Amino acid sequence: MKPRIFVTKPVPAKVEEFLSAYCDCVIWKENAPLTREQLLERVKDVEGLIVTSSSPRIDQELLDAAPRLKAVCSMSVGYDNIDVQALRQRGVVATHTPDVLNDTVADLVMTLMLSSARRAGELERYIREGKWQKKELDGRYFGVDVHHATLGIIGMGRIGEAVARRAQFGFDMKVQYYNRRPRTLDKRLEAAYVSLDELLETSDFIVVLTPLTPETRHLIGDKEFAKMKKQPILINVSRGPTVDEEALLRALEQKQIRGAALDVFYKEPIPGDHPLLQYENVTALPHIGSATHATRFKMAMLAAENMANLISGKPPLTEIR
Ligand code: DGY
Repeated sequence: MKPRIFVTKPVPAKVEEFLSAYCDCVIWKENAPLTREQLLERVKDVEGLIVTSSSPRIDQELLDAAPRLKAVCSMSVGYDNIDVQALRQRGVVATHTPDVLNDTVADLVMTLMLSSARRAGELERYIREGKWQKKELDGRYFGVDVHHATLGIIGMGRIGEAVARRAQFGFDMKVQYYNRRPRTLDKRLEAAYVSLDELLETSDFIVVLTPLTPETRHLIGDKEFAKMKKQPILINVSRGPTVDEEALLRALEQKQIRGAALDVFYKEPIPGDHPLLQYENVTALPHIGSATHATRFKMAMLAAENMANLISGKPPLTEIR
């Protein structure tokens, strides 16, 4: 009998086909997202779980409900919804999908940066609402330049490097970054390692890319917004809680920043009347950093390969360490 696994979200047919060669695979295909109760119910007899970053939390309670579980493979690079420590203690291996999404997420960072700088979302709404009545656009609607501006990257990993390359080579931007420690970067990059304070004080665009951990929760709060001297545009593509949302609302209200471009939020999905959406200078996207057909396929396939290896007693390709 093949080992039984549960997948919390539909996957491409080719991935499903691949998985079914190794396991008896049950996939959640309902339109409504899987609730925690439904997940707890379905893990009773499974050896493997394929999840995403928006699946219910994989924690001690879930482990207790899944006595046969050996492997949790996420179709995402971020794994803040997985209690890796608890899994380790139970001998359950966890994997994620680094690298395959770097360029796609970096493209989205540029999309947010450009569209916020040139007010693309706001001005598209302006046209759709029939407000474009004069031939010349009023100066009130002008934007700011991305080219030759200073970009500060908080959390310089592989996605950060892909952003830095686009910024330096494509837009002649001056790139600087902050991490806990300096990193050895692609030799062609001229990105300077600076303190968080210096980055906040001197950047025209600030991109948050750091993973969400207890240390990075509310990394950007009132104190940090107060240091942003150049009224930058803040771009968050990491996880909502790396930025204190109440502080962000205050920063927008007090015009400490020029705008915010957000792919992630405190509690997703957000309702249409979310307080952040009252600001025209907020560009909001529904957590689509890696959401292209090709990249989501690679992420699902990598998670499936990790699962196939683990249930066949082989080492996984991309374990969370
Ligand atoms: C990730 O992979 O962590 C992205 O946020 C998509 O979920």
